[in-house]
Amino acid sequence: DPVATPDISSCGPPDQLPPSANVLTCCPPPSSASPVDFAPPADASSSPLRTRPAAHSAGADYVAKFNRAIAAMKALPADDPRSFAAQASVHCAYCDGSYSPDGFPGLDLQVHNSWLFMPFHRCYLYFFERILGSLIGDPTFAIPFWNWDAPDGMSMPAMYTDQSSPLFDPRRNGRHVPPKLIDLDYNGREPRFTDNQQVDHNLRVMYRQMISLSPTPSLFFGSPYRAGDDPNQGPGPVENIPHGPVHIWCGDPEQPAGEDMGNFYSAGRDPLFYAHHANIDRMWAVWKGLDPRRHTDLTDPDWLDASFLFYDEDPKLVRIRVRDVLDMDRLRYRYQDVPTPWTSARP
Ligand code: C2O
Repeated sequence: DPVATPDISSCGPPDQLPPSANVLTCCPPPSSASPVDFAPPADASSSPLRTRPAAHSAGADYVAKFNRAIAAMKALPADDPRSFAAQASVHCAYCDGSYSPDGFPGLDLQVHNSWLFMPFHRCYLYFFERILGSLIGDPTFAIPFWNWDAPDGMSMPAMYTDQSSPLFDPRRNGRHVPPKLIDLDYNGREPRFTDNQQVDHNLRVMYRQMISLSPTPSLFFGSPYRAGDDPNQGPGPVENIPHGPVHIWCGDPEQPAGEDMGNFYSAGRDPLFYAHHANIDRMWAVWKGLDPRRHTDLTDPDWLDASFLFYDEDPKLVRIRVRDVLDMDRLRYRYQDVPTPWTSARP
């Protein structure tokens, strides 16, 4: 059977927090109504296509608009499910043991380290983006992606490092500010590469994770995770690397648990989280495009019917299934088309 999130009334204290975390609850604000089933945006005319831009190449107007949207979200009170604080808590709730899968009160629900990783985060970004757009009255608003898989995107995008911006987060690694290049398989030790070597290394890492290690859907998405299973059945190659290393590279090693980006419970507090995950989500689409005949979504009903709860922009509580989010056109968003130089970087 598929994993399902139970009603938020059974959301409890997160029992998987690191000992240093000072958090009592990650649960979303209660809802007076029961969840409604997700419906995609009605049609193209009422819901224009949103194009998510590469963060490093976004223009000043876009950056100003995005700053306004994040500022508006941060200005909402924490008991508003659309607030930045509540959005950040979503990650903690689904990753640090606030829920048990519906029907299995003894188990923790965990959306990482399994085939739920890609679809859960797609849902999360979908609602986050629509809330931002509605807060600034722009139905075309799209969140940026951190294009760390291409040379021009391999440092922290500048819009996030301006200390006066709501996109800034002080809990980051102070040594990893631009123009420092990211190491896509960072393990806590600084590699001794020149910039050219680092770029080359990163492209080979991408080739290895996206192509060599991801020839089939079951390898790409990660291990099955069904109702009643223990969590953490096994991540897919992209969840493993570069997803994890990018988190660790961003978080502050002086903080007790690598906050913010370096720990599940705090990662959503850094606005950079959502740009990192937009690129992860883009990798799903890129992977499908590399070999449309063999790189398909999974067809197992226990994957397709797995479901999560989110608040939308209204805000109303929505139950959304994996099968609802397989088609980006239907969700009315796409990614700016940028080169993928790693496709020819065979190690
Ligand atoms: Cu939900 Cu990047 O982790």
